[in-house]
Amino acid sequence: MILDSINIENLRSINKFNMTFKPGINLIYGENGRGKTSILEAIYILSISRSFRSHFLRNIITDGKSNIQIVGKIKDSSNQYLKIEYYKLNNQKRIKINEKKINNLSELLGIFPVTVLSPDDIDIITGNNKDKHKFFNMILCHTNKLYLNYLQQYKLIIKQRNSLLQSQPTLEDIQIWNEKLSDLGEKIWKIRKDFFSNFTSIFTKLWNQLDCKFKANIEYHNNQILSKNEYYEQLCSNHLNDLKTGYTKKGPHKDIINLFFNNMPIKECGSQGEKKLFLIVLKISEAIYINNIMNKEPIILLDDLFAMLDKNRGSKILKLLTNNFQIFITTTDANAETYFSKMTQLNFIKLEECNDICFAA
Ligand SMILES: Nc1ncnc2c1ncn2[C@@H]1O[C@H](COP(=O)(O)OP(=O)(O)O)[C@@H](O)[C@H]1O
Ligand SMILES: [Mg+2]
Repeated sequence: MILDSINIENLRSINKFNMTFKPGINLIYGENGRGKTSILEAIYILSISRSFRSHFLRNIITDGKSNIQIVGKIKDSSNQYLKIEYYKLNNQKRIKINEKKINNLSELLGIFPVTVLSPDDIDIITGNNKDKHKFFNMILCHTNKLYLNYLQQYKLIIKQRNSLLQSQPTLEDIQIWNEKLSDLGEKIWKIRKDFFSNFTSIFTKLWNQLDCKFKANIEYHNNQILSKNEYYEQLCSNHLNDLKTGYTKKGPHKDIINLFFNNMPIKECGSQGEKKLFLIVLKISEAIYINNIMNKEPIILLDDLFAMLDKNRGSKILKLLTNNFQIFITTTDANAETYFSKMTQLNFIKLEECNDICFAA
């Protein structure tokens, strides 16, 4: 998919912004605070109606304004145009696809897939197991509506079971939750097993293209996957333990996902640059995975791509960006344009020279 043009009003410091983009790489250069990340945020909002850096959308509306508007003109793989409009007025959200108002967010998901790398994503590498779950669950939820449904039910039951555990129930009281959990657990594990085998092979293939002297790999152990009956047995036999802590200690929510670099956990031994490299390869793998499953090339947003990468690593990464994706890279490096070979289809956008951008006073 290709974002052909965008129109933004009242997003953070941007009062008005109109821009036409090109297929291939769009490199957005500007000093700190020029609104580079805000432009990527706007593109992301068109995809899932949420920002990637603020939980509350009220924080992204320009101070003192009450409405926000983002309109994107998108070209799909069969060259058909698609218009997505996002409006927020006095806390009321309105989304239109090709002039038709949508009533449910699920109607938007998958229409215009976007993969984003933001500086906060380093948590996937340096954070705990929960951060890794969040990343992989998000990919699965966006590409598999059944998984989204199972996971939502599973999380709800875990919550209900945990609150029941805190009232010291007997094994009989909790049996019904064990049955429901084991049924959903089996379904979630089945989908995860296929997903990780697929995703890790994409990741390894990409990593090998980097010609890096160290190996990198994602480990999801299949031996933590249980059948419905095995999981049910475990929940019952772990009853006393769960009562003691008030939490459900077994299940897909406890799956261990390890990220290894040079056969050691990257979190413990990777340098900042190595961690960033690993993260970028994860994100490009995400885009390839989405493309394979949904048959739509997601747009890739790489915020502050070159930060913490030396020139050598930066140029290695650029080698991976030759796929058919439209890519938006932001940078504060005025020389970034020179990192790209003349072969690369590059659209260089200098925010400070751009007449179309108008900043809020
Ligand atoms: N709600 C808001 N209203 C007005 N300005 C904001 C708001 N939120 C953030 N800003 C400002 O917007 C500017 C642009 O931010 P950003 O897009 O992160 O720039 P860049 O990525 O180019 O460094 C920053 O100076 C920030 O302080
Ligand atoms: Mg920024």
